[in-house]
Amino acid sequence: MRVGLGVLSDGLAPTPPMGWNTWNRFGPFVSESLVLETADALVGTGMRDAGYRYVVIDDAWHESARDDAGDLVENRWAFPHGMAWLAEEIHRRGLRFGLYTCAGDLTCQGYPASRGCEARDAKRFASWGVDFMKVDWCNTRCLDGEPTYRIWSESVRAAGRPMVLSICEWGRHDPWTWSPRLGHMWRTGPDIEDSWASLVDTLDRQVGLHEYAGPDHWNDPDMLEVGNGGMSEEEYRTHFALWAMLAAPLMAGNDVRTMDEATRAILLAPEVIAIDQDPLGRQAMRVVKDGDIEVWSRELADGSRAVLLLNRGASSCEAAVTWRALGLSEGERVVRDVWRRSDAGAGREGYSTSTVPHAAVLVRVR
Ligand code: GLA
Repeated sequence: MRVGLGVLSDGLAPTPPMGWNTWNRFGPFVSESLVLETADALVGTGMRDAGYRYVVIDDAWHESARDDAGDLVENRWAFPHGMAWLAEEIHRRGLRFGLYTCAGDLTCQGYPASRGCEARDAKRFASWGVDFMKVDWCNTRCLDGEPTYRIWSESVRAAGRPMVLSICEWGRHDPWTWSPRLGHMWRTGPDIEDSWASLVDTLDRQVGLHEYAGPDHWNDPDMLEVGNGGMSEEEYRTHFALWAMLAAPLMAGNDVRTMDEATRAILLAPEVIAIDQDPLGRQAMRVVKDGDIEVWSRELADGSRAVLLLNRGASSCEAAVTWRALGLSEGERVVRDVWRRSDAGAGREGYSTSTVPHAAVLVRVR
């Protein structure tokens, strides 16, 4: 089944949103200087021009209480010039501004959240120049997912400024079944951690969700950990390649001001990004599961296939896929290595390659 009528198609997220978010690397330690330095680094490293447009401040930007009028206020010590000023600075750099709130009584870090104030807070964000709202799920007690985010969807649309709505409900109420009508992206599971175990756990939660995603409405397996130090370079390449296959929002979560060359090469790999951003918007499905070897495949707008051969195991081994398993007829097809950006041969019946532990070979089959 593909989700039919009524899915969001307002043109705000025709391909999965890309950007940077404070949370994975900086947690609650957010400030105006961090955000501005990062915005400059996004421009300077070429990330902005590669598509990373949204600069998102996650939890803990707040004062500990609303103001007398009942509005959320930024922490004046951390954000001395205020959010409207910061939004302008971000826009001046050709970037877009994202900000976090939470659907419950308090945010996950214990700051004032938006339950009962959805319309007011969406307007406040719009007046600041926010382009992207992330709405979290802490302290929601007995709230139900769909009706709660329906209120959010209406509030965001009535706020007077186009804003991407990022639903962060951790997959609690099967959000893929109702979010495509309400928001542009929705988390499919709990928070990712910077470890291989967390990466494969997150991946397993994406099996079968491909049918719910498409232009303007995307499954969100969570933000990137690439460059944060808990995984090997090979594992980070696998992480990024998998997210591209999943048509996932690509929200860098590292310190882009100080990243090394290896991290930069992963986050900026042009042909990998092109798969993520393919205009057809078809998320990959898993077509082979054979012990530690998995093959994921997605159709691309030009008629070719992106194919990822994953070795989840601890030893090197051969991974193979037949054209038939991809739903293609037999016949000579050219295989291009997407990381190396060069042709990797051709085959009449399929493709096979050696893989090292935790590696993902990513190819395009024409
Ligand atoms: C939750 C979300 C995370 C992050 C934190 C902030 O855990 O899932 O993405 O926003 O809250 O406290």
